[in-house]
Amino acid sequence: MGLLDATRALVTGGGSGIGAATCRRFAAEGAAVAVLDVNGDAAQAVADAVGGIAYAVDVTDWAAMDAAIADADARLGGLNAIFNNAGSSTIAGVHEYDVAEWDRIVRVNLTGVFHGMKAAAPRLLANGGGSIVSTSSISGTRPSGGEAPYAAAKAAVAALTATAALEYGPTVRVNAVAPGMIHTGLTDPLLALDWAVPHMTAKTPLARIGTPEDIADVVVFLVSDLARFVTGQNLVVDGGMTLHGAGVDGLLERFRPRA
Ligand SMILES: NC(=O)c1ccc[n+]([C@@H]2O[C@H](COP(=O)([O-])OP(=O)(O)OC[C@H]3O[C@@H](n4cnc5c(N)ncnc54)[C@H](O)[C@@H]3O)[C@@H](O)[C@H]2O)c1
Repeated sequence: MGLLDATRALVTGGGSGIGAATCRRFAAEGAAVAVLDVNGDAAQAVADAVGGIAYAVDVTDWAAMDAAIADADARLGGLNAIFNNAGSSTIAGVHEYDVAEWDRIVRVNLTGVFHGMKAAAPRLLANGGGSIVSTSSISGTRPSGGEAPYAAAKAAVAALTATAALEYGPTVRVNAVAPGMIHTGLTDPLLALDWAVPHMTAKTPLARIGTPEDIADVVVFLVSDLARFVTGQNLVVDGGMTLHGAGVDGLLERFRPRA
């Protein structure tokens, strides 16, 4: 018997990294899984691997999100979980951010989560309840220079999570997971730099870079009945990195020395 035998879940950003690992862990625990990603081939490959269904959708597109979530709700026999996980970022100083790039990062990391909640919440309520989990970041609570729109959006994901938990309890639980430094496609270019892994490892009490499965297992917990009395939380999973500050402090300076 799995922890998620009765779970029917949709995962955004499910084609890679944390999202893909979560799709695999969900399926291993018995869940039926819908994989949504802007990269349709990646979503399909993960769906094929977990016996799920795939959607090629950009989370910033409300109409496409609503249509995909409605379809997944019908095809999986009633959604009772969504993992709003799609995200991306770039590095620049605050006033150096191009306005369009600011808007893009906020739309993917924050508005995409709102779209997931807006489409899924009424269906979860109609289906008798369930769980919403979204991916925030340690950047939302301990930001580093160079990631202003991302940090602001991730802080807002925690606030949105708390608000939604107040609105949807007791029927639906709503939580966020805040990863630390996890080796995925998002962080691979950074972790490939020679100073990065030793620097991050030294800043982390558990003395390693995280894996996507480190986060996926916590998402399984949050969706499962093991977390039945947990709602409105922004759960940090960072190996203790933020006990020492951001852990990724000094990132901007390494790319752009101060004048
Ligand atoms: N890797 C880390 O260290 C770390 C730390 C904190 C938070 N996070 C967050 O974890 C989440 C997953 O990131 P990851 O590290 O697995 O990166 P990743 O790049 O491996 O995976 C992100 C996935 O999201 C998809 N995606 C991007 N924009 C999208 C959009 N507009 N619509 C639909 N799908 C989109 C990508 O195609 C990709 O498959 C993100 O929200 C990220 O901000 C990651």
